[in-house]
Amino acid sequence: MEIAVEGINWLEGQISVPGDKSISHRAIILGAISQGETKVHNFLMAQDCQSTLECMLALGAKIEIANQSLIKIKGVGLNGLKKPHSTLDVGNSGTTIRLLTGLLSGQNFNTKITGDDSIRKRPMKRIIQPLSLMGAKISGENNNRFAPLSIEGRNLNFIEYTLPVASAQVKSALLIAGLYATGGVKVIEPQICRDHTERMLDLMQADIQILSSKIQVSGRKQLKGVELFIPGDISSAAYFLAAASARKGFNLLIKDVGVNPTRIGIIEVLKKMGANINILDYLMMSNEPRADIRIEGADLVGIKINRDMIGMLIDELPLIAVLATQARGKTIISDAQELRIKETDRIKAIVEELKKMGALIKEKEDGFEVVGPSKLRGAICHSYHDHRMAMSLAIAALYASGKTIIKDAECINISYPEFFNTLTKLIK
Ligand code: S3P
Repeated sequence: MEIAVEGINWLEGQISVPGDKSISHRAIILGAISQGETKVHNFLMAQDCQSTLECMLALGAKIEIANQSLIKIKGVGLNGLKKPHSTLDVGNSGTTIRLLTGLLSGQNFNTKITGDDSIRKRPMKRIIQPLSLMGAKISGENNNRFAPLSIEGRNLNFIEYTLPVASAQVKSALLIAGLYATGGVKVIEPQICRDHTERMLDLMQADIQILSSKIQVSGRKQLKGVELFIPGDISSAAYFLAAASARKGFNLLIKDVGVNPTRIGIIEVLKKMGANINILDYLMMSNEPRADIRIEGADLVGIKINRDMIGMLIDELPLIAVLATQARGKTIISDAQELRIKETDRIKAIVEELKKMGALIKEKEDGFEVVGPSKLRGAICHSYHDHRMAMSLAIAALYASGKTIIKDAECINISYPEFFNTLTKLIK
């Protein structure tokens, strides 16, 4: 599917965005292995979370889709999952393969798990190595580096592990495996990354202790089902915040967005760049903070982003490159080499596509440098089948003259199927 997006000179309105993707994955996985019922409100019905749902169904989870936004799960308990009949398929979802590999390592049956072309190129050593230290037996392609993975379920043991990269997927894989390990697991994170797993485990009455950067969870203690209200996904809201931020007079209210401190890097960045952004009606639900976000456009300025912030805005970096083209001065992003191993190489991809639109952007090994402001012009752009690329380019197109074509734009279905509908409503 190709989508055409034209430059705009007005944006105003109020929207809400679909449920948080990271929390939706965790709700299905942890709900399925808890005891009692878990009700999940505002679950994200998008391809990545549906992959998790289907894998868990194949593992014998009892999940009912009551309606488009309510999922009911009858927990089977920590040891109630069953061997699936065939290889589990995670589609495009890195979160699914990494978290489920943690889960499957501690089962009393063997499994195989794989995904699409992009998944089979993404690094799995980062989970295989620490899980093996816990006693897991996992083998993969090319010297155990890539999926498909074969997992022999085992009794797992305690480890204390310092994450070599700030990765919530690796951290969560280990915490979930820890639920099955004698003595649990202790994970030390050198930089902040999203903590939804920890929050949900706490809500479900796991025995979890968090002391600054150290997270410890006990093994073999049953979780309790809960009623979960998932907030809007700040990574989806980010596209519209960016769309409204760089022109005076633009004005937007986004209702009920998750504002977990480990995810609000984009808000900090927009503030530093000079946007008028306010958090309203802050409240806590299901152990996650949520709020309305109001933004008014302004003249933006370039900023520097490095290691301390990267884990809090990793998925928003291609979008920040777009914003930087509209900001006065230089924006420098460093310590972001993780972007090269996402759904596509997001450093190479965003630099290439924004250059086509006339941006002054330079590729660096661990990020990019942008000099702005630039008058972008419409171009024929590639999404690289990467949802975050397609949506970031759509926002660049709003700031460009003429028409931009985004190829293979159906990849937005991975995280945000209604993206173009919501965008159209705001700019009409
Ligand atoms: C996610 C963690 C991040 C993020 C991904 C979702 C999660 O990946 O990029 O979109 O739900 O845990 P890493 O943990 O690999 O950085």
